Amino acid sequence: MTSSSTPRQWLVPVGLVLLSVVPVLAGAARVTELTGGAEVTADNARFLASPVSVLVHVVGATVYCLLGAFQFAPGFRRRRPGWHRVAGRLLVLCGLAAALSGVWMTLSFARPPVDDVLLTPIRLVFGVAMAGCIVLGVAAIRRRDAAGHRAWMARGYAIGLGAGTQVLTHLPWMLLVGQPSGHPRVLLMLAGWVLNLAVTEWALRRRPAKPVRSIPSPRPPAPPVAAEQVG
Ligand code: HEM
Repeated sequence: MTSSSTPRQWLVPVGLVLLSVVPVLAGAARVTELTGGAEVTADNARFLASPVSVLVHVVGATVYCLLGAFQFAPGFRRRRPGWHRVAGRLLVLCGLAAALSGVWMTLSFARPPVDDVLLTPIRLVFGVAMAGCIVLGVAAIRRRDAAGHRAWMARGYAIGLGAGTQVLTHLPWMLLVGQPSGHPRVLLMLAGWVLNLAVTEWALRRRPAKPVRSIPSPRPPAPPVAAEQVG
């Protein structure tokens, strides 16, 4: 079996999909509520008042988390560079939609009682940082900098997947203490993002990008000019 087809290469994508499961299901439940004519309550009023931003956020984040996981399977990426490029373009749109709609909701939604005011600037920083990482990842690959592309895309994805890690940081608190709110919730949310970024930086340093001999150009190179055509 070649290294490009070992089941090990699927460990990371499968782990990332599993980490996405809870926020993806929560998003599907919220969209079902929005589209099913649910009764307005204190808990859902802000979502029902701005359904478009919620739809954009949930659809963008769902595609970004699930499809994005498969960009991290190295053998698959090498064997199917066309897939990596096409999926990558869709993921850029979905990632930017998820991050910018998150920023929009942070700025425009009434803050629920469980959220301390400190969560607002923190969400803004991570939302803008996620969009910034994606833009830097695109800029890097346009100048054929594969290592820079890999690093910035991984950081953007790490911030996006903070939603999944936040489920894990909240879980022990919920089991031992109950629903977190105020400063504990701020710290548990922050921990999800910081943990993901720390693991990403560790992984990037542990396995530096392999030097690439050539990155396929999106456009075919111009044909060489024949000697007799010159002059
Ligand atoms: C890309 C991965 C992400 C996923 C899977 C995700 C998932 C979700 C889901 C399912 C909701 C609805 C929550 C509910 O129904 O109670 C939501 C709301 C929200 N998300 Fe995200 N999100 C992601 C990224 C982000 C980022 C990076 C930000 C930062 C700006 C963000 C900010 C928000 C805000 C402000 C809300 C509304 C919270 C509220 O008012 O209670 N999200 N997200």
